[in-house]
Amino acid sequence: MPQSPDPAAMGRVIGDGTWYFHLADIATDPVHQRRGLGRAVLEDLVARIDAAAPPHPCIALLADPPGQPLHRLLGVVDSAPSQGMRLPH
Ligand SMILES: CC(C)(COP(=O)(O)OP(=O)(O)OC[C@H]1O[C@@H](n2cnc3c(N)ncnc32)[C@H](O)[C@@H]1OP(=O)(O)O)[C@@H](O)C(=O)NCCC(=O)NCCS
Repeated sequence: MPQSPDPAAMGRVIGDGTWYFHLADIATDPVHQRRGLGRAVLEDLVARIDAAAPPHPCIALLADPPGQPLHRLLGVVDSAPSQGMRLPH
């Protein structure tokens, strides 16, 4: 059976099937960075949400420092006064 090539970039969306969606794990293999792949992944995930969700869905994410310039470029804004938090497990 032929092996699939390793992905150059990836991303994940977790949704409740209605209104709330969380973007996660957006990453590009360092060898392929700065070629537009991260942007393409993010735009594709948002397009999929827009196609499936009612108008004005809630789309949230936790932006690690390397991802912040890309997210801002695509219109992601700070969530203040809300703040990202997590439960360590
Ligand atoms: C963040 C990440 C996914 C970006 O992937 P990428 O494929 O390199 O992104 P793109 O090529 O689509 O970048 C599009 C634009 O975003 C901005 N951008 C992307 N990486 C940047 C960086 N390191 N510094 C500044 N701006 C950056 C630039 O404006 C870029 O356009 P340009 O290359 O024409 O200047 C990638 O750096 C990565 O995998 N980082 C490690 C994992 C991570 O932290 N993911 C973010 C989780 S929130």
